[in-house]
Parts: sequence; C-alpha cells; structure tokens
Amino acid sequence: MEVTRVCDLARLAGREVVLQGWVYNRTDKGKLCFLLLRDGSGFAQCVAFKGDLSIALFDQIIRLPQESAVRVKGIVREDKRAPGIPGGYEVSIQDLEVIQAAASDYPMALKDHGVDFALDHRHLWIRMPSQWCILRVRATVMAAAREWLDQNGFIGMDTPILTPAAAEGTTTLFETEYFDEGKAYLAQTGQLYNEANIAAFGRVYCFGPTFRAEKSKTRRHLTEFWMLEPEVAFCDLDQLMEIEEQMIAHIAERVLREREPELKSLGRDVSRISGLRSPFPRISYDDAVERLASLHAQETDPDKRSLLEFQWGNDFGAPHESALTGQFDQPVFVYGYPTAVKAFYMEPWPGRAEVCKSVDLLAPEGYGEICGGSERIADHDTLLRRIREHGLPEAPFKWYLELRKFGSVPHSGFGMGVERVTAWLCGTEHIREAIPFPRTIKRVYP
Ligand code: 4AD
Ligand code: MG
Repeated sequence: MEVTRVCDLARLAGREVVLQGWVYNRTDKGKLCFLLLRDGSGFAQCVAFKGDLSIALFDQIIRLPQESAVRVKGIVREDKRAPGIPGGYEVSIQDLEVIQAAASDYPMALKDHGVDFALDHRHLWIRMPSQWCILRVRATVMAAAREWLDQNGFIGMDTPILTPAAAEGTTTLFETEYFDEGKAYLAQTGQLYNEANIAAFGRVYCFGPTFRAEKSKTRRHLTEFWMLEPEVAFCDLDQLMEIEEQMIAHIAERVLREREPELKSLGRDVSRISGLRSPFPRISYDDAVERLASLHAQETDPDKRSLLEFQWGNDFGAPHESALTGQFDQPVFVYGYPTAVKAFYMEPWPGRAEVCKSVDLLAPEGYGEICGGSERIADHDTLLRRIREHGLPEAPFKWYLELRKFGSVPHSGFGMGVERVTAWLCGTEHIREAIPFPRTIKRVYP
C-alpha cells in the first residue's frame, strides 16, 4: 500500500490515494461528513458521502472524536474552495480505517483558549494550524540560514554549552556546579569560541541553543533560544553588514518560496516579505537618537511622547525601536552604539572611545532587534583593559586573550535570533510561539 502525503495531493487529481493522519475537525451535514485531516505535511478536507459507504462505516465516521488516527482511501478532486493547507484539493472517501479512536475529552478542542492554557498544553497546541505554520516557517528559517552560509564559504563549528565565564553580561547567567572545577555557566553565546575557530577555518558559524536568565518578561525574550552566529576573519563592520543583509534576504526569499501557504494561513501580508530588498538602510546610533528627538517633538499624545523620551548613551527600548523602524519598510541597521551599553569585546570606534563598532539589525513593524553583532577587539592590551573594566575574572579568558597574540586580525561576527526572525516573518505577536517548547522566566513545563 502506497501512502500519499497531503502536500502531494495537487499532483494526484483524479487518482486514488491512501492518506494517514489525524482528524483535526469534523463537520456533519446530513448525508455528508467533512473530515479535516492533518498528516504532518498539511491539512486536507476528506468528504464522506453516505451513499458511497456502508451504513456501519458512515456511522463510525460521524462519531469520530477529534484527533482520532485514521487511514483514508479515496479519490483526489480539485476544488478551489476546499479548505486546508495548502487547500484546493479534497479527497472523496471510499474507505476509512480507524487506527486509534481518540478519547473524547481532548483538552485543545476547537474553542478559543487563553494563552496560559494553550502553553500548558503546548504538546498538543503544536498540532493546531497556526502553531504548525509558525514552526514550519521556523524550520525553513534555520535551513535557509545554514544553506546561505554553507554556500558562501562558511563552515559549521559547534561551540560548547558548558562554559567557564560570562560573555554577554553577568546578570543573565545560568550557573551550575561543575565537579571539582567550581562553577560552569550555560552558554550565552558561542562567539568567543568562534573567534578561535576563525583563526583555523576563516569563516565559521555555530548554531545552537543559547541561555539567558532574562528577568525581563517581554514578548521578545526567552530564557532558552536558538542563535545562529557567523564569525569572519579579515572582516570589518561594513563587510559584516553586507553578509547579514544577504543572509537575511536569502532567508526571506526561501521562506516566501516554500512557505507561502503557511504565511497566508497565518494571515500574514506577504507583500511585507516579498518587498524586502537588500542592501538595507544603515543609520548610526547618533542619527537614530536625532530621529527619536524629532519623533518625540512631533508626538502630540503625551503618553506616547513620554515613551519616546531618550538620552544619548542609553540602549533603545521596544518603543524606541518601534518608532525608528516605523520610518522604514525594510530592516534597518543601527551601528556605532555607546560602548557602555554593549558587551566587553567590541572594537572601539576610531577616535571615539565612547562608541563601539557594534551593529544591530532592527526588523520593521515593531519587531525590533533580530541580529546583534560587532567588529571585535583585535588588540591584546585593549581587550585586557576591557575585561578588567567589566570586572570579569581574567583566568577564564586566558585562552581568549591568547588569540590576540598569535595572528590577530580585524574580525567581525553577529548572532541572529531564530525565534525573533521567525516571529517577524510570520507576523507573530510573541516569540514564545516561534519555538516548539518555550522556556521563559515563568515556564519550564511541558
Ligand atoms: O545581541 P546578542 O546578545 O548578541 C550576542 O550574543 C553576540 N555574542 C552574537 C554574536 O555577535 N555572535 O544576541 C544576538 C541575537 C539578538 O539580536 C536576538 O535576535 C537574539 O539573539 N536574542 C534573543 N532571542 C530570544 N530571547 C532572548 N532572551 C534573546 N537574547 C538575544
Ligand atoms: Mg543585542
């Protein structure tokens, strides 16, 4: 018995097929019963007509509880109105075998649930079309990013999760006892190891789970998220931005090519994505601060106005990023942040020690920072001074400093947050829906 997948139905109009999957929904209309079948590759409508089937089988079908597992034999028919993802084809049922009749108390029945209830049932929620679509886009984001890097001379290099020191600030560290070695910390980034890897391989990327004990409860923060981090030897800040925009443009293009039905099912305005054009606009932090000042001056609503207040030297909050990106329909690079708000390893701006060669890529429509990167300090003594200024212990950074003694070159890299990019492309409000099993300050279950 050859089994067909829902995603292949369009090629098989008029043919007899066997599908196996789960009953996502059932609608009874007298002599007709519509099953919305999901099989992992898509959702398709299967129609049971009483006249075509034995009485016993039709009776069984109209009693099938949601989420029952079934095998269906039938004929594929093209029908533009047929619901489903991608939709447009339905199957007239000739025979149906029940593999498991689901229990009748399915907690995620088709009514609207509060988000906490849905998150408590994440193991079942991922079956629903909206979540299924978002997570499929996520998989394509990951594949497309790797694809672009692999095709552009980068090689994948895994970096450790258990690490001896902080790299992105000491306030978000997850700590664990490490045998007789004292404390170890879950990686906040693989970057420092990437900096060792580039001296061996030139262009590398790591891609893995990243941990931040973020106390902030926002729609953009998880405590465990996936970050893709390219690092490049002989690369300055301008060259880094070129790499970033090409990679992001490639991701958007492949998502659009492969996941348009998912985006449409999510109600996403796909013109927001098809309209992306690299190179993306680049503005300096100084310029961004001026733009915020004039937006502040123009704002007549006092509440919104106070949200836009901003002082040179601070980091942007969500309202500032939204206001700034609202001026562009493309992602925008903001470069040259104050040294004081960024990590210790960033190269100082020539002639302006208070500014560093950092760059954030901010997505439009209020999504804000999707990538953070910089040129790294290449000079040994400057780096040592910065480690001391940040009050970091020197011993765990001995190897990192040593990289500056043997063939140190200008080099740069960035990290792309997979869930942030996915949420932006899907138009999803909160990034917790852009990862299969989200971890936040209030959640480690399921
Ligand atoms: O800007 P971040 O902190 O940069 C770094 O960690 C660098 N070491 C990366 C590098 O240069 N190799 O984080 C990079 C990106 C952010 O732009 C954001 O997209 C994502 O990682 N990110 C988070 N995503 C979800 N939840 C969080 N708590 C995140 N923190 C950062
Ligand atoms: Mg950042």
